[in-house]
Amino acid sequence: MEVVSRDGFRVPRLGLGTYRMTGAGCQGAVESALGLGYRHIDTAQMYGNQDAVGAGLAASGVARAEVHLTSKCHHEIQTPDRIRAACAESLRLLRTDYLDLYLLHWPRPGSDLPAALETMMALRAAGMVRQIGLANGTVAHLRQAIDEVRAPIVCNQIEYHVLIDQTPVLSWMRGHGVVVVAHVPLAQGRLAEHAALAAIGRRYDADAAQVALAWLLDQPDVAVIPKAARPGSQVANLEAMRVRLDDFDRAAIAALPKTLRCVNPPFAPMWDAAG
Ligand SMILES: NC(=O)c1ccc[n+]([C@@H]2O[C@H](COP(=O)([O-])OP(=O)(O)OC[C@H]3O[C@@H](n4cnc5c(N)ncnc54)[C@H](OP(=O)(O)O)[C@@H]3O)[C@@H](O)[C@H]2O)c1
Repeated sequence: MEVVSRDGFRVPRLGLGTYRMTGAGCQGAVESALGLGYRHIDTAQMYGNQDAVGAGLAASGVARAEVHLTSKCHHEIQTPDRIRAACAESLRLLRTDYLDLYLLHWPRPGSDLPAALETMMALRAAGMVRQIGLANGTVAHLRQAIDEVRAPIVCNQIEYHVLIDQTPVLSWMRGHGVVVVAHVPLAQGRLAEHAALAAIGRRYDADAAQVALAWLLDQPDVAVIPKAARPGSQVANLEAMRVRLDDFDRAAIAALPKTLRCVNPPFAPMWDAAG
């Protein structure tokens, strides 16, 4: 499995997203993915599936040290005591004594971001988490975290796919060595049916979803975490790593409208704040 590597932080370029999977279905999907060679699993307190992810990891027989495990603390609990308790609970449910990456999920408007980050740094110093980062951090969040708090943020997980323009936050992250983990890389499945991507894929014997993933996988410092319950989709997404787009394809994808934001809950930040 190829890895994204930046300043000592290493993460497998393709991971399995687990949002909206719970129970036996989630356990089975995690087990299947690990059996196929996935070594990066993305979960969160908010998904209510950390127990199932932990069960899948245990049942897979794959050594914990071989797997990159990301979890995130819920946006409603971003005070120091509750972050510490949430992290301990994640470790218990996931049946592990450390997380590879712990993310502040949806930094909350009006919350004390420095206090939350100091707590995450203490979890890191205690060995409960190896690295820390943000999920859905804006440029304003990143500036505060890195320039003001001096938090060692290695990653920002953001919505990123062929139909959204993330230039401001990506430019900032690339300039500061922050790795991108692209969530909803298939625009929640919509891109599997995208005609222009399907047309590009015909040249490579690839389908539209594989082209959407190949476009992301081609970019330095980008890892992707498509969710795939079906083993067939898990295999197809692994095979997207063999698709190499050319400049002609990239130009066609650059010309697509970049106006689709799939994940925009009421507690989302001002996306272009200080962008
Ligand atoms: N940090 C955040 O705030 C945040 C927000 C959203 C998501 N995420 C993370 O990102 C992950 C991915 O996002 P997502 O699950 O919302 O959407 P997604 O990965 O863009 O799309 C998932 C959908 O695409 C389908 N699919 C997967 N591979 C396919 C293939 N090769 N061909 C055709 N269809 C395919 C899946 O179907 P099947 O499952 O039926 O196979 C599922 O319906 C989440 O699971 C979560 O881990 C993070």
